[in-house]
Amino acid sequence: MKDINDYRDGIKRIVISEEEIRSAVKKAGAMISEKYKGEPILLVSVLKGAFIFLADLARAVDIPCEIDFMEAKSYFTDTKSSGSVAVTMDLKHDVSKYHVIIVEDIIDTGRTLKEIAKIIKSHSPLSLSIVTLLDKPSRRVVEIEADYSLFTIPDLFVIGYGLDFDEYYRNLPYIAEFDESRLK
Ligand code: IMP
Ligand code: MG
Repeated sequence: MKDINDYRDGIKRIVISEEEIRSAVKKAGAMISEKYKGEPILLVSVLKGAFIFLADLARAVDIPCEIDFMEAKSYFTDTKSSGSVAVTMDLKHDVSKYHVIIVEDIIDTGRTLKEIAKIIKSHSPLSLSIVTLLDKPSRRVVEIEADYSLFTIPDLFVIGYGLDFDEYYRNLPYIAEFDESRLK
């Protein structure tokens, strides 16, 4: 996508504004700070989609916390997840010493997160919980729920605030619907 007009035309409409994100992230940070006061917590970000959410959420948490990253790839041919998941970068921390909070960008089919949760659980964290920015419950094919979800959205392909289409649009400060007619 080298053409700037093509790029702009891909942004169909804003679904969640910067202000809505900011206030929801603040609430999520306050919830974490309250729930885990006095406990060792590790925020685990699933790259790359959650990197912006993690950066903002971490700054909304006002208790001591540590941060680690994991990368998983789920393979798409189009905007539908195929369900095949590979962990391409693992955690550096010994999770058995922490209450682990997985910070996800979006739960779609749920396959990626289910796999990641299984791997982390096998290393016996003090506890494991999931915070997701977005949830598309209508698309779920495996059983997995977030403990805290900031926004529930319908079955749309969204971009921005870390989420990409073909690696573009992660830097949009809001969440927008991607114009899927661009795929054809
Ligand atoms: P899963 O289908 O729940 O396994 O989702 C896997 C990954 O697909 C998510 O973590 C996102 O990175 C990506 N994904 C799912 N839905 C969307 C979307 O609407 N926009 C951008 N990425 C998405
Ligand atoms: Mg993701």
